[in-house]
Amino acid sequence: MRKIAVINQKGGSGKTTTVVNLGAYLAQNGKRVLLIDMDPQAHTTIHLGLEPPQIGKSTYEILINNLSPEEAFLPTFHSNLTLIPSKIELASAEIELVNTVGREVILRDALKRCRKQFDYIFIDCPPSLGLLTLNALTAAKEVFIPIQAEFFALEGLTKLIQTINIVRQRINSDLKITGVLITMFDLRKNICQEVADKVKEHFHGKVFRTKIRENVRLAEAPSFGKTIVEFAPSCHGAEDYQKLAKEILRQESQK
Ligand SMILES: Nc1ncnc2c1ncn2[C@@H]1O[C@H](COP(=O)(O)OP(=O)(O)OP(=O)(O)O)[C@@H](O)[C@H]1O
Ligand SMILES: [Mg+2]
Repeated sequence: MRKIAVINQKGGSGKTTTVVNLGAYLAQNGKRVLLIDMDPQAHTTIHLGLEPPQIGKSTYEILINNLSPEEAFLPTFHSNLTLIPSKIELASAEIELVNTVGREVILRDALKRCRKQFDYIFIDCPPSLGLLTLNALTAAKEVFIPIQAEFFALEGLTKLIQTINIVRQRINSDLKITGVLITMFDLRKNICQEVADKVKEHFHGKVFRTKIRENVRLAEAPSFGKTIVEFAPSCHGAEDYQKLAKEILRQESQK
């Protein structure tokens, strides 16, 4: 089982789009996938067609009430794809947990109690390096970092890597960055290629060959509550996420 936190404290870098659509394609390729929405904005939840009022149990109850993850499972459009949803209440978890001992390991310990097996767990993080992201980094073994191909993309990466290093030293010695993904790439813009080159330099062999192109269908799909697999399976965005899923499966078969 691969447990992957998808993080970048920079907002709008493509975390949620990647979690939902990569998860959907891995599910379509026969893998059992769990998506955990750790963002109070609940974008992964909404992207999968679930509106907050329909949400009963969520990541909030897992963190605050010691709920078992299985009790929060929701089915999605694909039988291989399961969701632990989020809701706005999660925004106050950080404050509610301020006096809780071991507050950064709650998700890790909860997942240990989960009996259902998955091939992949993806944790969608909020755009911050606070307690929710810390819980994801502690529960995961791997980190994927989506980076938008634009001028400000590299800002804040040093802080991000520092945070990952601290978590590795103090709490989770297994944690590794295993995938860096260029998102919203536009071949016609020089800046995109420049950013992609810099990212490659910085992260050496960890950058996925697949780049996710800028694609309007990817941006439209969430408002229909659909993954790109259901919404527009032949668009460029769908092609790219399918290619990414295949790249990941190929890497695994070569190990
Ligand atoms: N390849 C793409 N092409 C065009 N639009 C995209 C692409 N990827 C993501 N988007 C759009 O860009 C916006 C930001 O993407 P997304 O929500 O995935 O980022 P995020 O990192 O999860 O943001 P946040 O930090 O707020 O959680 C969304 O409106 C999304 O639909
Ligand atoms: Mg998001």
